[in-house]
Amino acid sequence: MVLARLLLGATPLLGLVAIQPMLPAPEGAPAAATATPLAQDQEKDPDAAATCAMCHKAFYDEWKDRAHNRAWLSPVYQAAIKEKSKPELCHACHIPDRVLDRLGKRPEVRKANHDEGITCVSCHKGSDDAIHGPFGSKTDAHPVAKDPAFSGEASVAMCNGCHSTKIGPVLPLGRDFEEAGFVKEGKTCNQCHMPVIERHLATSPVTGKPVGEKRKTRNHRILGPNDPEFCAKAFEFEAKATEKEIVVTITNTASHRVPGLTLRKFPVALVVKDRDGKEHGKEVVEFSSENELRAREVREVKFPRAAGADRVEVVVDHVFQDQRVATITKQTLPLE
Ligand code: HEC
Ligand code: HEC
Ligand code: HEC
Ligand code: HEC
Ligand code: HEC
Repeated sequence: MVLARLLLGATPLLGLVAIQPMLPAPEGAPAAATATPLAQDQEKDPDAAATCAMCHKAFYDEWKDRAHNRAWLSPVYQAAIKEKSKPELCHACHIPDRVLDRLGKRPEVRKANHDEGITCVSCHKGSDDAIHGPFGSKTDAHPVAKDPAFSGEASVAMCNGCHSTKIGPVLPLGRDFEEAGFVKEGKTCNQCHMPVIERHLATSPVTGKPVGEKRKTRNHRILGPNDPEFCAKAFEFEAKATEKEIVVTITNTASHRVPGLTLRKFPVALVVKDRDGKEHGKEVVEFSSENELRAREVREVKFPRAAGADRVEVVVDHVFQDQRVATITKQTLPLE
């Protein structure tokens, strides 16, 4: 349906004359007419992410090959469902139909485009077949509906229909967030996971030039544990020395438990050193589903005070299925 509108409803509005080249190019048409590489996919399926990419390439590129896009193809997921006698019970959140139809609840399973995992229309298409979003912008490219589900408290519900579950290896981070009172404080998942980028929403599929105005949009990469710099923000460290001991505090600044999958671990190595680099104590605290760092938790690790000790060195690793993925952060905490 979107496609029909795209083709038939094309108007010069916002420079979206654009659409014509998706029709068979008239004889003697300029070269630009064939310069829409995604036109063929688009003709096949208006719900395919490749269709959205024609005009929202920046958003598509961010989403492509990231966790939501890979939610079905992920070899880890495919291996996990092979062990299940009823794998269809797993699919709802990995190949979801329209999330907005069941806000805050488990979605229905989608029938098509499974390889796209959690795709554009999963989050953006409403029961009215319009594209829902935070602005309600005016365009003839497709029907648009302004939807409160994209901001504030309702945007948390949008994530938590899938992220509050405890099933398979998944831990209920969404529930942690609500129970710890962050919703009441006006916090949302997107404030951390989808940082703001100022830019145009769309580009013309013909000229590649931006249409409309620049706005505050959100990064569709959905930052997570595989982005070391972002992941490091889950932990805050501080070291204090008293007469008798050295106390290191590890504060959870992620607003939900860490980690969020039984398959993931974060070993935190703490080493007390003196001016000459000599070690005066070492402790490794491994955060996992058996020893989670709860929302708002402050964990203390104590060492006896050693003469000359002047710092604590911290190394945090990311371990997935018992394989070390990366070192998330290295820090030196000075002792007064
Ligand atoms: C209610 C929604 C929901 C259902 C139903 C669901 N999952 Fe998931 N699944 C998730 C979410 C959310 C994540 C991401 C969690 C995270 O990263 O903290 C996930 C992640 C995973 C991962 C990790 C994938 C990767 O690439 O790292 C596996 C494996 C998995 N799920 C298996 C299953 C299995 C097996 C079932 C059925 C028994 C299932 N899931 C049912 C929501 C769901
Ligand atoms: C032919 C070009 C074109 C295609 C294809 C297209 N869009 Fe759009 N879209 C636009 C334009 C133009 C706007 C309005 C931009 C503006 O006003 O700044 C827009 C706006 C949006 C918005 C913002 C809604 C709001 O609240 O204002 C979302 C979300 C969106 N599109 C998602 C999609 C999705 C998902 C698909 C694929 C199913 C898609 N679009 C396909 C051109 C397109
Ligand atoms: C339809 C269900 C669903 C919805 C809605 C959803 N997610 Fe997810 N999310 C998943 C699944 C499934 C995965 C795991 C995919 C995988 O790793 O294979 C995941 C993974 C993630 C990850 C881990 C990323 C990584 O790199 O490992 C983050 C962070 C995340 N989601 C945040 C969000 C936020 C924020 C929202 C709301 C804007 C949201 N999700 C909405 C199902 C969902
Ligand atoms: C204050 C910033 C912040 C907020 C708010 C936040 N997160 Fe996170 N989240 C993080 C950080 C940092 C990580 C990386 C550590 C980790 O993976 O446990 C993370 C990790 C995740 C992961 C991957 C967990 C794993 O280990 O597999 C998911 C899924 C996720 N968040 C979902 C959500 C959802 C859903 C919400 C809202 C209910 C939310 N987050 C709110 C900072 C935040
Ligand atoms: C997991 C759900 C989810 C998926 C999947 C998703 N989006 Fe979004 N999208 C959002 C949310 C949430 C916002 C609103 C962010 C905000 O502005 O607060 C948004 C906003 C937008 C906007 C308006 C600009 C902005 O950031 O506010 C466009 C355009 C858009 N998305 C396009 C796409 C396209 C294209 C795809 C597929 C490649 C896609 N989205 C996939 C959740 C999603």
